[in-house]
Amino acid sequence: MKPQSASTVFSDRRLVLCVGPGGVGKTTCSAALGLHAASEGRKVVVVTIDPSRRLAQALGLETSTSGEVVAVVRDEGMHLDALILDGGQVFDDIVRDNASSRATAEKILQSRIYRATAQRLSGALEFAAMARVQMLVDAGEHDLIILDTPPTANAIDFLDAPKRVRELIDNPGARLLAGTGRISAKILGLGSSLLSRTLETIGGGQFIGDLGAFLREFADVLEEFHRRGGDFEQLLRSRATGVLLVTTASPFSVREAEGFLTQLSDYGLRIDAVVLNRIDPLVPEAPPRERLDEALADPSQADRVWTAYAGARALAQRTQRSIEAITSSTHDLRVWTASRHVEPPDTLPELREFGAEIFG
Ligand SMILES: Nc1ncnc2c1ncn2[C@@H]1O[C@H](COP(=O)(O)OP(=O)(O)OP(=O)(O)O)[C@@H](O)[C@H]1O
Ligand SMILES: [Mg+2]
Repeated sequence: MKPQSASTVFSDRRLVLCVGPGGVGKTTCSAALGLHAASEGRKVVVVTIDPSRRLAQALGLETSTSGEVVAVVRDEGMHLDALILDGGQVFDDIVRDNASSRATAEKILQSRIYRATAQRLSGALEFAAMARVQMLVDAGEHDLIILDTPPTANAIDFLDAPKRVRELIDNPGARLLAGTGRISAKILGLGSSLLSRTLETIGGGQFIGDLGAFLREFADVLEEFHRRGGDFEQLLRSRATGVLLVTTASPFSVREAEGFLTQLSDYGLRIDAVVLNRIDPLVPEAPPRERLDEALADPSQADRVWTAYAGARALAQRTQRSIEAITSSTHDLRVWTASRHVEPPDTLPELREFGAEIFG
């Protein structure tokens, strides 16, 4: 197969989701892809979730507030922006932008219930990510939006989260409460532990009345947001959206990644490419043991070298098997590899080099 660079693979995408098992390098690859695409002349924004401190520093995000677009690179004709997401903060923006009046927005934002739940609503971060991406799409200032995703065991959890928040608002129990002030334990689908934590935080009695008023106002805000935002699911399933699946070569991650591939394509997403990250270098077969013994006078040293060599070779073989497994399960997909670096790539020059290694 003719090698394809990222520019060929993602050229007709406006949004690329970077997904994969936990800890495999999604955030790192999102940043590296962002730099690479920007170096090819596209106006790019990377939406990151929970980057390591050093990576946040490299992108100039360590003092930014959640959702705020920060210019990362603006030279040599490059245009790379980034932002960091925090579920609760983006919810605040949704409230400000979509409440019927500024007074209503402030009332919601000051509500003890909102303060206690916005951060913990199941799916809040995912909803916020989708919302922020929708705003970026509407603003039209970038040719490519790269969305890093949080670690989830199930790829669809992330994509379905906005729907779960929406169901929460549409939930007949919540509607009833908004109208009458009655409460049932399962209301809001918050789960009883969150509900009881919330009750503890704000202290019982007054809660029920407050919750009814809050729900009425908050539901209006989310309705308005949805009305304006259009159908995000439609964007995900359109040709404008592609997926970069990141995994490592460990058998566990490869199995999980294969599961993701099935789930994502069943959902209707277009998977463009896979990155096998942190792969170990190929190691040729060891020379005969006698040669090693001859070369190294100290037999215990020869033993250690022999064991280390066998270990490295086993890792390399495992990597090779993983590459074959993922390639055969994804026939028409591009599979890129990235080697394991001694120093994690977390400065701009390192990320740029890392991006060129994978996507160039
Ligand atoms: N090729 C590589 N070589 C060495 N270190 C790497 C490589 N890729 C990523 N790392 C390091 O591995 C760690 C995990 O990477 P990263 O945070 O990008 O993963 P993630 O998939 O986003 O994790 P999470 O699922 O927790 O969000 C980081 O410390 C990162 O610097
Ligand atoms: Mg991450």
